[in-house]
Amino acid sequence: ATLLGFLQSLLDKEGVSSSAGKFWHISDLHLDPDYKVSENPLQVCPSAGSQAVFNAGPWGNYLCDSPWVLINSSIHAMKQILPEPDFILWTGDDTPHVPNEKLGEAAVLKIVERLTNLIREVFPDTKVYAALGNHDFHPKHQLPAGNNSIYNQIAELWRPWLSNESIALFKEGAFYSEKLPGPNIAGRIVVLNTNLYYTNNEQTVGMADPGQQFQWLEDVLTNASRAREMVYITGHVPPGFFEKTRNKLWFRQAFNERYLEVVRKHHQVIAGQFFGHQHTDSFRMFYDDTGVPISVMFLTPGVTPWKTTLPGVVNGANNPGIRVIEYDQATLSLKDTVTYFMNLSQANAQETPSWELEYKLTEAYGVPDAGPASMHVALGHIARDQGALQRYYIYNSVGYGSPDCEEACRVEHVCAAREVDFDAYTACLRNSGASPAPKLALPLAALLGLCTLLVR
Ligand SMILES: *[C@@H]1O[C@H](CO)[C@@H](O)[C@H](O)[C@H]1NC(C)=O
Ligand SMILES: *[C@@H]1O[C@H](CO)[C@@H](O)[C@H](O)[C@H]1NC(C)=O
Ligand SMILES: *[C@@H]1O[C@H](CO)[C@@H](O)[C@H](O)[C@H]1NC(C)=O
Ligand SMILES: *[C@@H]1O[C@H](CO)[C@@H](O)[C@H](O)[C@H]1NC(C)=O
Ligand SMILES: *[C@@H]1O[C@H](CO)[C@@H](O)[C@H](O)[C@H]1NC(C)=O
Ligand SMILES: [Zn+2]
Ligand SMILES: [Zn+2]
Repeated sequence: ATLLGFLQSLLDKEGVSSSAGKFWHISDLHLDPDYKVSENPLQVCPSAGSQAVFNAGPWGNYLCDSPWVLINSSIHAMKQILPEPDFILWTGDDTPHVPNEKLGEAAVLKIVERLTNLIREVFPDTKVYAALGNHDFHPKHQLPAGNNSIYNQIAELWRPWLSNESIALFKEGAFYSEKLPGPNIAGRIVVLNTNLYYTNNEQTVGMADPGQQFQWLEDVLTNASRAREMVYITGHVPPGFFEKTRNKLWFRQAFNERYLEVVRKHHQVIAGQFFGHQHTDSFRMFYDDTGVPISVMFLTPGVTPWKTTLPGVVNGANNPGIRVIEYDQATLSLKDTVTYFMNLSQANAQETPSWELEYKLTEAYGVPDAGPASMHVALGHIARDQGALQRYYIYNSVGYGSPDCEEACRVEHVCAAREVDFDAYTACLRNSGASPAPKLALPLAALLGLCTLLVR
């Protein structure tokens, strides 16, 4: 595999690689089935809560979750832009932001089924690796560590995409792993149910390893290492912190630590991590003890434009975004991310939606690929260069927000991207986002630390 990877990298440099692959990553579609273009600002969408929605347009509104036509448009845009992806990652959150009383189990399942059917109709021959989000359960966030009727029914909805083994596993805990499709892709996907680690999930309080998912993940990664397979990890709720405010975390602390530990132990087989939940476009770095970048997690923007009501977040809406990941089929190494978006205000003004290229990661940050070393360099630019910071900040809301990211904002974004660990994040905030001092435990570690200090 190593020799093959080496030859592949030579081929790539010549631009004649035959193993260039592409896949879609979409997340947070959040259908609001009751969205309507109403003159009455209080009747537009239940997902706006008590907020008045003025000038609602046919394609949606920044205060609301997605109307059906927006979701339909996004899936058809995918078909037009890249009709034959190797596979699709779909990382959950299908239902609207409304109180539990307005949904119920049947309504949640109905929405998951509508979206599943749409994706199957538009991409009938494509493998889809779907994850549950914290909104894909009733009551919301309360995903259990064991079997229940919602996991059972969703496993049946997703049967066309899954092996029998994965269906059985999904019914127990809503996580599974599959070999990636086709003879040319030398790798495996792991779909996690990280909703089990979410601070809002009361079902897993006090559990050391809900659903034994961590133990299972370690076994899968150990097996992959033996089989010389590379792995992508995907899921909904990410570890670490929300970059649009301060100290807002998603995982309970012990789960956050365990996740980080697993990535550090098995990073040689983890080729990439793909998560959603935040609706923003960002990424998370993982470093080893000496500060060497070992892994990167890409957070893909949401399709829903819904402005978050999370306390401390100002202007937390986004334009609808969808993303292509370019990678090497032989090694799973990440080559680029290409994000497309719908300018929602423009679509409503012109009455026709248009999905356009927003940006290509390698061009935006001047890096050769989307691997951990390159993303470490990109983060360095974002941390130190005002132009790169502004570019990143506009992409973060998919062109919804202004380019003004002042010092407090810079520190929040840089520290969230750099430090998934709770204590390291706090230290980063305290240092105003300056690079940490290298750890001087061993002479070699010191030397490596010095090197990373120079490139950071
Ligand atoms: C979904 O989108 C397709 C492609 O734009 C269009 O032909 C179709 O009418 C749309 N359906 C709905 C229900 O909006
Ligand atoms: C969960 O599994 C247990 C043991 O196999 C079984 O008795 C129970 O009926 C299952 N519950 C559901 C909702 O499937
Ligand atoms: C998977 O399960 C279905 C129904 O339980 C069965 O009909 C089918 O043969 C199984 N497929 C494989 C490959 O075992
Ligand atoms: C790991 O491989 C062993 C041996 O093939 C197998 O029995 C086990 O089920 C695998 N574990 C996982 C979690 O895939
Ligand atoms: C979206 O369209 C509006 C109205 O046409 C325009 O003012 C704005 O700059 C556009 N935003 C982006 C990110 O293209
Ligand atoms: Zn969401
Ligand atoms: Zn979510």
